[in-house]
Amino acid sequence: MVLNAITTRKSVRTYSEKPVSDDDIKSILQAGIMAPSWVNVQPWQFIVVKNQEHKNILSEASGGQKQVSSASAVICCIADMTAWDIPKFSKVMEKQGKNSATREYILASPMLNPSNLGEYETLVRTIEQIPYAIGYMTLRAEELGIGCCIIGALSNELTTKDTNNLISVKEMLGLNDKQILLSLLTLGYEKDHTKTIKSRKDFDEVVSLEKMGVKFT
Ligand SMILES: Cc1cc2nc3c(=O)[nH]c(=O)nc-3n(C[C@H](O)[C@H](O)[C@H](O)COP(=O)(O)O)c2cc1C
Repeated sequence: MVLNAITTRKSVRTYSEKPVSDDDIKSILQAGIMAPSWVNVQPWQFIVVKNQEHKNILSEASGGQKQVSSASAVICCIADMTAWDIPKFSKVMEKQGKNSATREYILASPMLNPSNLGEYETLVRTIEQIPYAIGYMTLRAEELGIGCCIIGALSNELTTKDTNNLISVKEMLGLNDKQILLSLLTLGYEKDHTKTIKSRKDFDEVVSLEKMGVKFT
């Protein structure tokens, strides 16, 4: 099942008028929420955008990419650094049944809690988690026959000096300065079905046994 979805999935950039149902959007989000994350901190937020004006603003923020404005829905994937704030992080650990000594240990550890190291480390560790959720969502969408495209080329704190655009998108989504719009996931039914063509590096180019460059095959 999973391998099927992995094999057939492709980025879909042209969509028909058929809307994606809220039930299916929720199911895709549920798959994302199931993704693993560092100490299970789940530093993500997802904002579903269906309003056409808002989709147009997101399209503008992504350099005018048409699949954003023409998608039935867009999932805004937010890297949420506030997830490491002590009350939120503690709540997650409590929910998992970690006792107070373990919680205190994790909160004080530079390895397990990057906010002990600094803003940059917290940013990197937060961003590191989001693609797992996005990957799961793309596979669930594929399983449901819904096309999607990850959009990483967009204005955010990492990519832009265009602060006006950035501020208006952040305001529209209600984000604070510790919440970064990392990627969009556009959803829609493919307009004209095309075959999946996987253009990937060869296995031996990217896989080694024991030491870089030693073939596994
Ligand atoms: C982090 C990330 C950012 C991406 N950003 C964009 C984007 O801004 N626009 C776009 O059309 N595709 C984007 N893509 C899709 C890639 O171009 C696509 O996954 C890649 O070419 C492989 O093709 P496939 O998805 O059809 O297998 C992005 C993919 C990833 C993982």
